[in-house]
Amino acid sequence: MNIQAIRSDFPIVNDLIYLDSAATSLTPEPVLDAILSYYRSYRANVGRGVYRQAQIADQRYRDAHCKVAGFVGGEDGTAVFTRNATESINLVARGLDWKRGDRIVTTLLEHHSNLLPWMRLKEVGVDLEVVAPDRMGRIDLADLERAINKKTRLVAMSHLSNALGTIQPVREVGRICRERGALFLLDAAQSLPHMAVNVKDIGCDFLCFSGHKMLGPTGSGVLWIRRSKEGDEEQRSVTVQRMIGHSSKNQDSRKEPGSTEIEPLMVGGGMVEDVLDDGFSIKKGYEGYEAGTPDISAGIGLGAAVDYLIRIGIDEIHEHEITLTRRLLRGLEGIEGLEVYGPGADSPAERGGVVSFGIEGLLPHEIALMLDQASNICIRSGHHCCIPLMRHLGLKHGTARASLYLYNTDEEIEKFLGNLEQIARMA
Ligand SMILES: Cc1ncc(COP(=O)(O)O)c(C=O)c1O
Repeated sequence: MNIQAIRSDFPIVNDLIYLDSAATSLTPEPVLDAILSYYRSYRANVGRGVYRQAQIADQRYRDAHCKVAGFVGGEDGTAVFTRNATESINLVARGLDWKRGDRIVTTLLEHHSNLLPWMRLKEVGVDLEVVAPDRMGRIDLADLERAINKKTRLVAMSHLSNALGTIQPVREVGRICRERGALFLLDAAQSLPHMAVNVKDIGCDFLCFSGHKMLGPTGSGVLWIRRSKEGDEEQRSVTVQRMIGHSSKNQDSRKEPGSTEIEPLMVGGGMVEDVLDDGFSIKKGYEGYEAGTPDISAGIGLGAAVDYLIRIGIDEIHEHEITLTRRLLRGLEGIEGLEVYGPGADSPAERGGVVSFGIEGLLPHEIALMLDQASNICIRSGHHCCIPLMRHLGLKHGTARASLYLYNTDEEIEKFLGNLEQIARMA
């Protein structure tokens, strides 16, 4: 990997040391070019016009969906563009036809975006079981298996923890879900930008991720949906009565067990095949879920981000991050008064490049402010949208968190460690 060539695509890295890619990544020039080129050269709405310019816009937007689906090995499913991973998860939470007594299994490691949508379903009588990790952020598969019973409709968990960096054995989880007949939603917001994620290998039914964490524009996210046989064959017709709230649904209309068919979050223009007096039929594929004018430039930009990641090589990016993370962890572990949370330097396979730590006598926000003021180093601090996990770990003020990506260098890590040594000495 030619790191200097990569860095020249991200001019912003010359002004700062950006160690907050888990919050949102930086954007390379080719992605910016793709966005501007849409606005400058072929701006038109998608899925509507017959004139040439509209056809070009539509084709590029459609191509972006294909690229994204291909990137996760999900050509035979549907990649729906959303605003972010949060919207993707909410789409599933709102869209499945829940009934009272259904059970969802999730974990205490989850980002609020993969917890609150399930918590809210308690209002319609859905039970939620939350499996706790150990202090390193590892979920014991035996605990997960115990939590899944006959009523479990869905298991929702993250691949890589945004708070502790721990990677979960998702292939095993996929196998367990298949054996038990539960749907599997994988939150890949933190893994997919950094390592190969393949929905066929994992065997998940829904894959949610953020375009803006994988070099794409802000306002881009994805929900990939495994195509269920039922959905393949059936034209999705929605009568007005069926659309009025989950609870008023006629139970006879319930989908087959294991069906991934979900109702769209919004209905309106651009997503219908036909509209009659008492209902409407929804287009197949992503269009059925993207009512109204979508964020076309964000979608096209996300397609360009996938091209970029493929060109650099996702495995090369992963290797680069493993090397940097090991160096970072070794350095952190050598600083007196500093504690790393999550797997350490001796367990590289268990973790990604998201590294949480604390310094005795300092609040996480103080550490982040000192780094910023002293050396323009950007890290995240606080609870990382994981309040239940922080409470479980007894970390009242959360942690300081550095997160890496393809544009970070050894020199940046050394400078970061040097700053932390000084901060820890002064604390
Ligand atoms: C693991 C995880 N899931 C979900 C989200 C939510 O992503 P978004 O901000 O794109 O909605 C995040 C964001 O940090 C995350 O780290």
